[in-house]
Amino acid sequence: MYRSHTCGELRLSHIGSKVTLSGWVQKSRDLGGMTFLDLRDRYGITQLAFNLEEAAGITEQARQLGREFVVQVEGEVIERSSKNKNIPTGEIEIKVSSLKVLNVSKTPPFTIEDETDGGEELRAKYRYLDLRRNPVQDKLRLRNKVSLETRKFLDSQDFLDVETPVLIKSTPEGARDFVVPSRMNGGQFYALPQSPQTFKQLLMVSGFDRYYQIVKCFRDEDLRADRQPEFTQIDCEMAFVEQEDILNTFEAMIQHLFREVRNVELDAKFPRMTYAEAMERYGSDKPDIRFGLEFVDMNAVTKNKGFAIFDAAEQVLAINAQDCAGYTRKQLDKLTDWVRRPQIGCKGLVYLKCNEDGTYKSSVDKFYTQEDLAEWAKAADAKPGDLLLVISGDLDKTRKQMNELRLHMGDELGLRNPNVFKPLWVIDFPLLEWDEESERFHAMHHPFTSPKPEDMHLINTDPGKVRANAYDLAMNGVELGGGSIRIHDREIQSRMFDLLGFTKEEAEAQFGFLMSAFEYGAPPHGGLAFGLDRLVATMGGSDSIRDYIAFPKNNSGRDVMIDAPSPLNEEQMNELGIKLQ
Ligand code: AMO
Repeated sequence: MYRSHTCGELRLSHIGSKVTLSGWVQKSRDLGGMTFLDLRDRYGITQLAFNLEEAAGITEQARQLGREFVVQVEGEVIERSSKNKNIPTGEIEIKVSSLKVLNVSKTPPFTIEDETDGGEELRAKYRYLDLRRNPVQDKLRLRNKVSLETRKFLDSQDFLDVETPVLIKSTPEGARDFVVPSRMNGGQFYALPQSPQTFKQLLMVSGFDRYYQIVKCFRDEDLRADRQPEFTQIDCEMAFVEQEDILNTFEAMIQHLFREVRNVELDAKFPRMTYAEAMERYGSDKPDIRFGLEFVDMNAVTKNKGFAIFDAAEQVLAINAQDCAGYTRKQLDKLTDWVRRPQIGCKGLVYLKCNEDGTYKSSVDKFYTQEDLAEWAKAADAKPGDLLLVISGDLDKTRKQMNELRLHMGDELGLRNPNVFKPLWVIDFPLLEWDEESERFHAMHHPFTSPKPEDMHLINTDPGKVRANAYDLAMNGVELGGGSIRIHDREIQSRMFDLLGFTKEEAEAQFGFLMSAFEYGAPPHGGLAFGLDRLVATMGGSDSIRDYIAFPKNNSGRDVMIDAPSPLNEEQMNELGIKLQ
């Protein structure tokens, strides 16, 4: 028997017990006649005590142990004379009577403690060592709890977990596919699913009624803190439902998860906002509503006063940073530099300080009188002590830029508390999105999303105005999930492919199987998918999903631990009939 207890288990009540523990040597301390070792496993740390006078042999042995050696000890639980209140086992220690080295270890490249000295790259290369650290393990424990509670909830609601294939044909979800060459079908390729979208719709046609799957999805797209090339969805689909049924079902799931996993009671009813309103008030389809700083349309009060930049702009927008009129020249310059960075791309930043004495100071007060500036303040509901930040330009671009500035100010002013959770359903997304590059419409969600019946009359005349039965769940500025009511009618589906510029042949080649299925009694259906990685990271109060994935990829899509991707050897290439250009 390797162990009678774990390293996190023993307490004062165990005093006098003879125990066996196994684990890793975290560190050792020599204090004259005494040597102490911290023994660590997944459950905690227990102090081992060796007394040179009483047991010279094993104390000498203990002194030879290096960090991360794997050892087994036997001994008696005794009360510690100097207690460590910071750990649950801190009141006891083991008076060791026998010590066995189960394995040796090279000196690890960084310290395996809560606060490590290892840089990000080094920890990624030795991810299996980083994963020994408690804060990292905590994140995976959180993830485990979330998927477990997801399964419990969905099972209780009659959802059936059905696996779908990984070697498939391309599914158009807006990103590039990862492809896999087929040896048995020379010159042909599978694609890895960007999501199980078409399969879950087929399962509805098959009558499964309520499907879910916690499933890997693959997308070859540019990576960011909240994007990985392979990530996990909680993917769901339901038949005989309307949008309202879906929102209610998954609102209850998210409430359940926060209650069970974080002990947090979310809003009893999640607020809803149309896409149009979200863009107007926050310039984002996933607004962080933990704080205000909402957009103010300044067109009416800023134009025609001789300031050419505002006069020429399609949109002048402001946010009101309350109580920030005290910002120094230096702080304002720093903000200006921030919005001018290429990632944001503003030409400049105009400010208005509403001084405590009722006067106004602006960076453009050459062009505006005190009365004009009072109008600005009024438009933005600004009081003495407030600071308006104003930018201008094309509508869409200015909204995007102001969204960035708003989030930045939210961070700077400490308004984005990671322990506050504000869900928001964003609904009524546009069906289509114009793509400048290819000069055609793309499906904003995916091509199986149904248009709102009341907007169908616009589909030929003004397709860009047609709204979809599509929705996203945003939380704290993160898109946690999204979905739609699907088209279940072959005619409308084929019209949709038309609109998206697919020829009949292309549509048939790519989606013939789905269109055929729709001829055999497809029920009305809809669904959604949550990004599990994003959900867990948000619940953990972090922006980066990488920490919540056991073996993540870096920003170039590389796994630096296993060194993938990598070239194939010639034999494999020949077998696949592939030559590199
Ligand atoms: P969508 O493309 O919106 O919808 O994806 C659903 C959710 O998956 C998460 N997500 C990602 N997470 C990490 N890295 C990525 N690269 C990544 N891409 C997406 C997001 C997102 O909200 N089939 C549809 C769902 C449906 O209509 O039912 C779909 O995949 O949290």
